[in-house]
Formats: sequence, structure tokens, C-alpha cells
Amino acid sequence: MDTIAHTLQIAYKEYATVDALPADDRVLMQAAIDATATAYAPYSNFHVGAAVRLSSDVIVKGSNQENAAYPSGLCAERTALFAAGSQHSHDVVVALAIVARNEQGQLVEASPCGACRQVLLESQQRAGAPVRVLMYREGGSVRVVEDVATLLPFSFSM
Ligand code: THU
Repeated sequence: MDTIAHTLQIAYKEYATVDALPADDRVLMQAAIDATATAYAPYSNFHVGAAVRLSSDVIVKGSNQENAAYPSGLCAERTALFAAGSQHSHDVVVALAIVARNEQGQLVEASPCGACRQVLLESQQRAGAPVRVLMYREGGSVRVVEDVATLLPFSFSM
């Protein structure tokens, strides 16, 4: 049997600080930072904030919501995406920003988990246009991916 080797490439931009982002993105990341304050995370003490920009320019915030029955909780990204979907059903997602605060209250790196990537990908498919993802990184820089599909190669579809 022949083996074919492929290499995947992920294109992204890196901004040195939140302030270095374009104005719209800066506002979105600030909304995600603000959303960390609404996290309910007594079990992990990891407060995640997410903010979704819709095509109407409305911003919908979300934060992780935990539960004593652990799997019943929900990540910040899906909280924001599902809130956007249910409150603005005729609007589509344009971008999502994510950040977290650790136990000491410091802003720390956050990158969407696999399940959130799958949900984001479907948001992108519904939008019919690339959804940008802004991820806060260690040290305060921000990584920007222009297309969710690059974050989830070989994704599930039906
Ligand atoms: N969490 C998020 O909110 N987003 C992610 O992408 C990964 C993890 C939350 C879930 C849980 O409340 C806490 O972070 C620790 O895993």
C-alpha cells in the first residue's frame, strides 16, 4: 500500500498587543476581556471570556458556565455563539475573540477547544463567509486566524 504524506499549514497573524489590533478587533477583544468577569467557574477557577461580532456589528458576549455535574457546564465560546444564534437568529457571525483569566486574575492564553471549533465551523458555514478568530496569547499578544476551517482540519460533516 502506498503512503501519501501531506503537510498542513495554518495561516495566522500575530499582533504584539491588544492595542495594536485594528479598531473593530480591539473592541471585540475588550468585550471578551470584560466577559471574563461574568464567568461562573468555581470548579476550575479559569474564567474564560468570549465575544462574537455579528454582521450587523452587534457584539454578543459569553463566558464559561460551570456546573457541579461537570459535563453540564459550557465553554465561553459556545455560550456566546448560542446566545447570538438564539437572540439574533437572522444575523451571522463575523468574528469571535477569546481570552481567559487565571486564579490570580491575570489575563492568560485561551484557544477554542475542539467542540467549540466544531460549533464555530458551523457558524461559518451558516454565514457563508470566513469567520475570524482572535485568541489572546501569553504575554499579551493576539493571534488572529482568518478562517475557522484552518483550526479544524478533517472536521465532521454530514
Ligand atoms: N473552557 C472554555 O470556556 N473554553 C474553551 O475553549 C476551553 C475551556 C472552560 C471550560 C471550563 O469551565 C474551564 O474552561 C476549564 O476547562
